[in-house]
Amino acid sequence: MEKNTSYTIGEILIKSEGYLRKKRIKNPRLEAELLLSFVHSTDRLWIYTNWFEKIRDDKLERLRQLLLRRTKGEPLHYILGYKEFMTLRFYLQPGVLIPRFETEELVEKVVEDSRKGNFRVFADIGCGSGVIAISIAKFVENSTVYATDISDKAIKLTAENAEVNGVENKVKIFKGNLLEPLEPFIDQIEVFVSNPPYVNHEEWKSLDEEIVKYEPKEALLAPEDGLFYYRAIIENLLKNRTRNKGKLIYFEISPTRIEGVKKLIKRLKIERYEVLNDMSEKARILKIVL
Ligand SMILES: C[S@@+](CC[C@H](N)C(=O)[O-])C[C@H]1O[C@@H](n2cnc3c(N)ncnc32)[C@H](O)[C@@H]1O
Repeated sequence: MEKNTSYTIGEILIKSEGYLRKKRIKNPRLEAELLLSFVHSTDRLWIYTNWFEKIRDDKLERLRQLLLRRTKGEPLHYILGYKEFMTLRFYLQPGVLIPRFETEELVEKVVEDSRKGNFRVFADIGCGSGVIAISIAKFVENSTVYATDISDKAIKLTAENAEVNGVENKVKIFKGNLLEPLEPFIDQIEVFVSNPPYVNHEEWKSLDEEIVKYEPKEALLAPEDGLFYYRAIIENLLKNRTRNKGKLIYFEISPTRIEGVKKLIKRLKIERYEVLNDMSEKARILKIVL
């Protein structure tokens, strides 16, 4: 039988928070709660309803190991193996990008417009863990979402996450380069969504070490000026202007890329587009009507 230590759950939470703060982790309380509840296979509320219970030896040892990994720089969500996105749970693994909060705003916009416009068939290009495709499938009624990625790991994880979230029949997953695997279905697709790699070489050098060391470079870094993937996707769809006329594209963009994006739009003679800000008033979404 496992022994209890002389520490309570509450004491360990406070100690863990202090340790993470000392090591300059940005949200020490939240991360301490997530790690402590993770080692107990439960949720954060459990900590507060078990505040005065003694923590077991084996759980404390496991927590120590996780705190050590975290303070050595390993991202929290690779340690936990999941992240919440749009209230849904997405399993994660190294080699696949950790979804960012900003991307929720992109998905919310797509869902809102699609409910109004009655759109039903979507494509998510560069699906990663599947957060965009699966959230659309979940929140837009009677939808079908085609998801593509060049990475085997991403494709497998999207399939797993689609099943976990009960939308495996609505999300069709294909491995391949950008729109190439979608060619047989392109006539049916009404809305294209993508959060492509958009960090350029210059910016890559100034990213946090935690990102550079642990997250997949090929999910973040874009060749040339960082606009390579936007250009490739738009130009591909414009090749057949008649077939794609009136279709929508929603991109996540970097606020630092906005001038370049506008130049690209102008060069491609796109007249109907909107740049939308995120909650912190930074340009984040590019919506194009083809
Ligand atoms: C910024 S991540 C976005 C992942 C996910 N959609 C999200 O928002 O968290 C970009 C994704 O594009 C994928 N990717 C990179 N080059 C690609 C290509 N040529 N064709 C398809 N997917 C590609 C990467 O593997 C990665 O999963």
